Amino acid sequence: MSAPMPPRSCQSLATAAAISGLTALGPPRRQLLMGQYGAPLRSQKGKLKGLQLQSLEGCLIIKLPKYLRPMLVRELSPGDWIQVWAYPEGDRWQALDVLPWPEQEVPDALRQAVPPLPSALVPASPREDSRPGAQVCIQVCRKGKCFKQGGQQIWQALEAEVEANPGFQHIAIEATGCMKACKLGPNLRVLPQGKLHSRINPDRAVALLDRYR
Ligand code: FES
Repeated sequence: MSAPMPPRSCQSLATAAAISGLTALGPPRRQLLMGQYGAPLRSQKGKLKGLQLQSLEGCLIIKLPKYLRPMLVRELSPGDWIQVWAYPEGDRWQALDVLPWPEQEVPDALRQAVPPLPSALVPASPREDSRPGAQVCIQVCRKGKCFKQGGQQIWQALEAEVEANPGFQHIAIEATGCMKACKLGPNLRVLPQGKLHSRINPDRAVALLDRYR
């Protein structure tokens, strides 16, 4: 990442900023935003573009550079606490870095002061986080054994293929939790049929797309 990396543990910084939730540091306009990851932001075509951050200032719209988008899917879930280095851009923010923030490190004052996440921000199910209008959804397990055995590479290969190929715009790719078939991993599931594909790899996963053209 090109931006200077703040320390992962920002307890003292966070404590000092707990009341404002917004701290000016370093270059004049760069700021540290703190709050809960609400939901991903997607383009009309379903491409991941950013996130909604529930902060003391309300719901902030944060655009992510491409290099930060994979971690959003890989490491974060709605409701997670995060710290975001960003600068304002119109009525939005442009992120420079996103840091997962262990809940036990979040100061109580901040945790209690940030308004609860509106339920509308949290996808009730993975399907609701799909590409709008998508008729097929491929869920890739991103947990435990599947992740260690290449789940991330599978997800990235599928996402890249779908983004690049206009013929696949009806297909949404999602990273999900454990599918309870860990011994067979890496796993993916195709909706709406619900068919589970096991011991998958990136090449097989991409080849699978042709079945759903
Ligand atoms: S970790 Fe992937 S199915 Fe359990």
